[in-house]
Amino acid sequence: MILYFTGTGNSRYAAKYAAEATGDQAVDLFDKIRNKDYTPMHSDKPWVVAAPIYCWQLPHVVRDWMMATEFTGSREIYFLMTCGSSVGNAEKYLRRLCDAKGLAFKGCAEIVMPENYIAMFEAPDKEKAERIINAAERSLKKAAGHIKAGEPILGEKPDIKGKLMSSLVNKIYYPLIVKDKKFYAKDSYSGCGLCAEKCPLGNIEFADGKPKWRGDCTHCMACIAYCPEEAIEYGKASEGKERYICPR
Ligand SMILES: Cc1cc2nc3c(=O)[nH]c(=O)nc-3n(C[C@H](O)[C@H](O)[C@H](O)COP(=O)(O)O)c2cc1C
Repeated sequence: MILYFTGTGNSRYAAKYAAEATGDQAVDLFDKIRNKDYTPMHSDKPWVVAAPIYCWQLPHVVRDWMMATEFTGSREIYFLMTCGSSVGNAEKYLRRLCDAKGLAFKGCAEIVMPENYIAMFEAPDKEKAERIINAAERSLKKAAGHIKAGEPILGEKPDIKGKLMSSLVNKIYYPLIVKDKKFYAKDSYSGCGLCAEKCPLGNIEFADGKPKWRGDCTHCMACIAYCPEEAIEYGKASEGKERYICPR
């Protein structure tokens, strides 16, 4: 079973690609994570988790959901990690998670997809995004081939920067940076409510017709990216930037 979490669609694309290539099913974790649904899950085929890299690790919301959920059936698990540039030393922490769950780590594929983190960086324009996705298909094809054959996926050795980012930087990033106080809706906001619908944590409510972020945010960028009027901003950081949603 291929489980996926996504903010802006890249990891759904990776999950669906792998499902098609391996004859497995892709299951969206959106409702499970949003509803804190920890019903046990069963798969006779190896587990595959497709998710974005957040600060050089698996998003903590996915890690925490996995920790709370029992996985029965296959004891093997692969990870397809989509990222804007690199997974750093995510493998170390994925192995730790696997040990805690009694699962055998079969590998972590680094799938470089378009950057979506416009609270910090730039997202590519549509043409560049297409080129990046086309190039990612090669890595996806290779990873899916290993999964289908039951072979391990061997990752690159992380360099010093990757080690630092996945460890110390990740540790301080969540308490210091992952906050939602800077999100706001501009006057042009139409009130369509898509931002609240797309929030995987159900963190957006409405007050006087405007969205309000309630303090439980993982910075997935879905609210900003899906707003049809580009009326949501993250302070000044997102102003004038391309919004990215996976076109596939
Ligand atoms: C909160 C956040 C943190 C991110 N951190 C990293 C990172 O550490 N390294 C990286 O290469 N890309 C990083 N990115 C980019 C995403 O991993 C990448 O765009 C991913 O494919 C988005 O997947 P999605 O569309 O399934 O949400 C980050 C994006 C977000 C929103």
